[in-house]
Amino acid sequence: MHNIPIAICGVGTVGSAVINLLNELAPTLASKYNLSLPIVQIGARRARDNWPFDLGQATIEQDIFKLAEDPSNQIVIELIGGVDDAYELTMRAFRANKTVITANKALIAERGNELFNEAKSRNLSYLYEASVAGGIPIVKVIQQGLAANKITRIAGIINGTCNYVLTEMAEKGNSYSDALKQAQKLGYAEADPTFDVGGIDAAHKLAILASLAFGCPLAYENIYTEGIDKLDVQDINAANELGFFIKHLAIAEIDKEDIFLRVHPTLVHKNEAIGSVNGVINGVMLDSNPLGRTFYSGAGAGGAATASAVVADLLDVALERSGSNSYGNQDSSHKFMSIEDVSSEFYLRVDVANQAGVLAKITEILSQLNISIEGITQKESHDENMLVPVFIITHQTKEKDINHAIEQIGKLPQVHNEITKLRIL
Ligand code: HSE
Repeated sequence: MHNIPIAICGVGTVGSAVINLLNELAPTLASKYNLSLPIVQIGARRARDNWPFDLGQATIEQDIFKLAEDPSNQIVIELIGGVDDAYELTMRAFRANKTVITANKALIAERGNELFNEAKSRNLSYLYEASVAGGIPIVKVIQQGLAANKITRIAGIINGTCNYVLTEMAEKGNSYSDALKQAQKLGYAEADPTFDVGGIDAAHKLAILASLAFGCPLAYENIYTEGIDKLDVQDINAANELGFFIKHLAIAEIDKEDIFLRVHPTLVHKNEAIGSVNGVINGVMLDSNPLGRTFYSGAGAGGAATASAVVADLLDVALERSGSNSYGNQDSSHKFMSIEDVSSEFYLRVDVANQAGVLAKITEILSQLNISIEGITQKESHDENMLVPVFIITHQTKEKDINHAIEQIGKLPQVHNEITKLRIL
């Protein structure tokens, strides 16, 4: 078993979610990759009697700087947030020759240039996928997936709290303060929510994306930043009537050597993909050559999304160190199921003779097979044989059951033509 002891620093929403996810993954990592990632230390400055996770073999270390230098762990996951202490912790971990993984966008945006230099000079990895757009692997997309492209523009919804507030105001007519309170309750907002609504958090993330995409230094201080805190609901409504949504966008563009960085509320045409990114979901649109436009969306804030990205970074390092590969870990207990066993909702079109009682017969067959109907409509006939199309939407049912129903319905004397069956996503 390849054993890599780790330390996790910070036990807020994200830290707790990372610990829980690692505990959950431990048996799979052992069986699939022969890999063990024991959490040997958890850094928490305040002592508690109850923790929202299983401590396992971890000890609680109140001196987070000591944890960074302790030789009993090899990888430090920094989830304390803030800049000054996180910088000190990360530097100490680098000086102890450790890999560091972080979700801290403020730290990377404001002190990342120094930290990258230190890590580089020691040939150490510093991973920060979770710092931008939560669960969307946008850092890996830019670094790896689009490595052969020249990125020319980034436009993103990268603050879940702002997007949540704007969506609640636009769709439900909720007040700005109620929507913000709800986002805080759900664990999306920063400790200081003015970082979210003032656009600072999005600017931190944009600095990171621009640096990755354009190969420029982190330049948070060069970003023009407006938040959503001065937005009036009447403008959201007016934009809506004119065919636009108002979204809080972070935009980075490059033209030869000139880079333009800005964060502000923006009107987006309703038919743009990014316009349909709602709630806490983030969305990032990238224009690149030769690929063209690509679009990525997913959960951008909250414990689960951020933990997904932090643990992905950890696995990147751990699998490489343990020499695991991407093709030799197939689990033969999987079964490939037949289409007959797939469950979905269905659309049916049944062409019937316009006679009393036909619908009752069809619905009786469906009911006997325990297939529940979500909707049913019948259209006027334009058919020369006076056949009437009946459209049925079912609730979720197995393919084999709907096939059985179609077979029986098809035998009714009033049913003509083949019955059309389409699956609903
Ligand atoms: N406060 C941030 C947001 C959390 O709302 O998107 C994720 O970085």
